[in-house]
Formats: sequence, structure tokens, C-alpha cells
Amino acid sequence: MAVREILKMGDPRLLRVAQPVREFDTPELHALVADMFDTLRAVDGAGLAAPQIGVDLQLVIFGFTHNPRYPGREAVPQTVLLNPVITPLADELVEGWEGCLSVPGLRGLVPRHPRVRYAGQDLQGRPIEREVGGFHAVVVQHECDHLIGRLYPTRMTDLTKLGYTEVLFPELAGVDDD
Ligand code: NI
Repeated sequence: MAVREILKMGDPRLLRVAQPVREFDTPELHALVADMFDTLRAVDGAGLAAPQIGVDLQLVIFGFTHNPRYPGREAVPQTVLLNPVITPLADELVEGWEGCLSVPGLRGLVPRHPRVRYAGQDLQGRPIEREVGGFHAVVVQHECDHLIGRLYPTRMTDLTKLGYTEVLFPELAGVDDD
């Protein structure tokens, strides 16, 4: 298993619409997910999408119990989600601060649906369906955006609310500059 390089904003591979996963429970898929968790843990991320390591598949992982990049946020269950479909459960949008491993050192205020249903498959191809709110809902919307070539700055409505983590959140200096 290995820590993989995370692509940064500007790389055209982050702008693709990812291909669906059609074969489940293969050794290649298990190895990919193991690498993704190694990579996520190495940088204390909340989630990672396959396109962020240059793999053109609809596959995201997320979850943590305590995250130094997002102190005070509630835990999110560790999840491997393939071919996800997100359905908003309310019309309203709520703004919250987000960062992204592909946009290192920055945070932005991003509008998201506060409650969503998401569906997809796990690594074995078994169906997953959940209704979630709070930070869990934010994380899944952020990660699934990577599968349609969207990085969080493209969801922002006020770019004056984009800034350096060390300036906006000095208490996070050193944890968000990789
Ligand atoms: Ni991201």
C-alpha cells in the first residue's frame, strides 16, 4: 500500500467527469481504496475522491472520528462510496467553511444543502443509502463534486470569502499547509 500524490487545482484531471465503477470487489479496487486511505490519513484529510489521485472512477472515501483540520466537527462514519447519487432534501443552502487537499492552504465559505440523501455501492457492490445532515452532508457533497470535475471554489458565490487558512484560522496554522 502507498501514499499517493494528490493532484492540485490546475491539473486538468481534476476537471473530468469520472467513469462509473462497473466491476466490484476486485483486487485492483481493494488496492486503490487501501492507497486512498493511506493517502487520506497521511494528510489528516476528511475525505478523498479517486480523481484527486488521478484515477478516473466514481469512487470516494471519507470519514473520521477526530480531525485536526476540522476541530469541533462531529465524527463522520468511515465510508467507501462508489457511483454515488446525491439528492438534496431541502431547497435551502447553508454556508460553511471548507478546505480541500487539492487546494492546499486555503479555505472558502461554500453554500451546501444542509440535508441530503445519498445512494451508491460499497466496495463489494452492495447498495448504500443514507439520509444525513451536518458535516456528514457537507463532506459527501464536497467529495462527490470531485466526480463531476468541481472544486469548492466553483461553488462559492462570494470570492471575498476565499482566503489562506493561516490568516482566516490562525489556530489551524501548520495543519492545512501540505
Ligand atoms: Ni476536495
